[in-house]
Amino acid sequence: MKVRDTLQLRSFAEYKEAYNQSIENPEEFWASIAEKFYWHKRWDTILEWDFKKPEVKWFKGGKLNLTENCLDRHLDTLGNKTAIIWEPNDPDEESRHITYRQLFVKVSHFANVLKNNGIKKGDRVCLYMPMIPELAIAMLACARIGAVHSIVFAGFSSKAIASRINDSQCKMLITANEVYRGTKPIKLKEMCDEALKETPSIETVIVYRRTVEPTPMKEGRDKFWYDELQKAEKECPAEVMDAEDLLFILYTSGSTGKPKGMVHTIGGYMVHTTYTFANVFQCDHLAAAGVKGQVKSVPDVYWCSADIGWITGHSYIVYAPLAAGVTTVMFEGIPSYPDYGRFWEICDKLDVTHFYTAPTAIRALAKQSLDLVNKHDLSSIKVLGTVGEPINEEAWHWYNDNIGKGNSPIVDTWWQTETGGIMISPLAGITPTRPTFATLPLPGIQPALMDPEGNELEFNSQSAEGRLAIKFPWPSMARTIYGDHQRYKEVYFSTYENMYFTGDGAYRDATGNYRITGRVDDVVIVSGHNLGTAPIENAINEHLAVAESAIVGFPHDIKGTALYAFVTLYDGKEPNDALRIEIRELVAKTIGPIAKPDKVQFVSGLPKTRSGKIMRRILRKIASKDTANLGDTSTLLNPDVVQEIMDKAL
Ligand code: WT7
Repeated sequence: MKVRDTLQLRSFAEYKEAYNQSIENPEEFWASIAEKFYWHKRWDTILEWDFKKPEVKWFKGGKLNLTENCLDRHLDTLGNKTAIIWEPNDPDEESRHITYRQLFVKVSHFANVLKNNGIKKGDRVCLYMPMIPELAIAMLACARIGAVHSIVFAGFSSKAIASRINDSQCKMLITANEVYRGTKPIKLKEMCDEALKETPSIETVIVYRRTVEPTPMKEGRDKFWYDELQKAEKECPAEVMDAEDLLFILYTSGSTGKPKGMVHTIGGYMVHTTYTFANVFQCDHLAAAGVKGQVKSVPDVYWCSADIGWITGHSYIVYAPLAAGVTTVMFEGIPSYPDYGRFWEICDKLDVTHFYTAPTAIRALAKQSLDLVNKHDLSSIKVLGTVGEPINEEAWHWYNDNIGKGNSPIVDTWWQTETGGIMISPLAGITPTRPTFATLPLPGIQPALMDPEGNELEFNSQSAEGRLAIKFPWPSMARTIYGDHQRYKEVYFSTYENMYFTGDGAYRDATGNYRITGRVDDVVIVSGHNLGTAPIENAINEHLAVAESAIVGFPHDIKGTALYAFVTLYDGKEPNDALRIEIRELVAKTIGPIAKPDKVQFVSGLPKTRSGKIMRRILRKIASKDTANLGDTSTLLNPDVVQEIMDKAL
């Protein structure tokens, strides 16, 4: 019996029972899950926590290595099973199928490259990589030797790379020379070279050659992946780690200031992500249960279309699927190349059974001709998933009807970079779904809806709306912000006493199902990417002509939310289109193209309170063309400016 089988709940009654047990006795509950994994030494205590400090420790004293759970443990039973199927950007290039045994060999081999280049347990390694198997190999190699990876999404700018490297003092940077996304070459190494001018902590750069383009290399510092492998031993015993040692740092936007380096630790992250993966997606289980009326003898093929540079990819492309022994797909390209049918072509070609994507992708694909869907055979699909932002009713139905053909459950999974793993979601084929609802908390998760006074709206079989908090620790929660524990405390644990605050609003129906309504802070979710308004404003304000700026979100039919910039200029500076372009480019260069505002409006002033705070509420309404009721503007320092902004709104 595979470990995953022992983790899977098989019916709604079993879910209920597990949930109740997890509330009555959380420690016993999580220990019974943790026991299913491979530990060198059992933990001394299951949970120690104090949300006031805040401090959370799971499985303290337990010794393990996550890669033994993702790789070594499977070799006897699943050694020849495909671990990763890689689908290249160019459909004419061959896919790669890597078995668990091959992955084990590759990870061990590359782990020695890290060691040979001076990387030791606890050192931070920055990864700026395209979606190729070597990204997963590099992550796992870090975990193998106890190094801490910090992945920077390969769409981010040089400045973003540099600030993240410097924040956590990475010793090594791993990248690729370049990669094609659609027809566009992305010069990753050049982006790194720009960043490396400002990152004194980097001693070595390892470069994977993805294309034949010549690559500028700096003597002594830059080394090719392949050359280093030639010099390295193949076998690499796993470093025995403590459950609370760091596994990785992943940066996420905050509503103010610089990005937050969320710290995830090994034991709890492994237990929670694998448990939630097994239960939410129910791989290799639903066919037997007859969800699609077919029993297949071939194992399931699970595909999450996210980029590994985000938490979704960390948890649900790499770590959890591998720990669960499932075949996971990695796709290098984009949904629109060579045409908007690419996702469906891949599902058809690889017989994908589980497909997990973001609402923004669904909305973009739903705009295309249905022929692009219908010319592909999607009968292998059993389960669909969404993540990253609220899904609207229309997109949900399009996905359900056209991709799931009305008989594949949709799991709408709510969670965050900070939560590490899924928190609220249906279990596929088990929990009754309701369009746009993430439904019920997973076992071990204790959500709370809070009213404006900070009181909990306890469940009383009536619907309620409020802000979403979590009352009790769960194993994969981030333990701190790297180098800034005080900020961790302020952002997450100071809004409500003894609770973790999510930053999201939520509605709960009379049967206890949750629907996430969106951010209630100054974070904007654009195409499923979490962006803080403050860093974008800071970037715009760097422009010599700009005096001040304010960024708000407005509804967009594909991106969900898009960005609108209100900008004031210094006296004598001309507002014109050239300046608009410069501002957008500056944002792309400072943060990344995803943060470029769709609209830039030049205004003579920003609406401010008497204490000097920008009244974003008003700007949000103007940007959303919802100006019928602007609310109270009497407290404004400069009420006249509002009419001017409305008159010239874009
Ligand atoms: C924010 C976290 C979780 C991995 C990807 C995003 C929003 C996430 C849902 C969902 C409604 C969702 C929330 C959350 N969000 N999933 N199923 N329904 N909203 O991770 O970048 O840390 O963003 O994404 O607003 O707070 P992230």
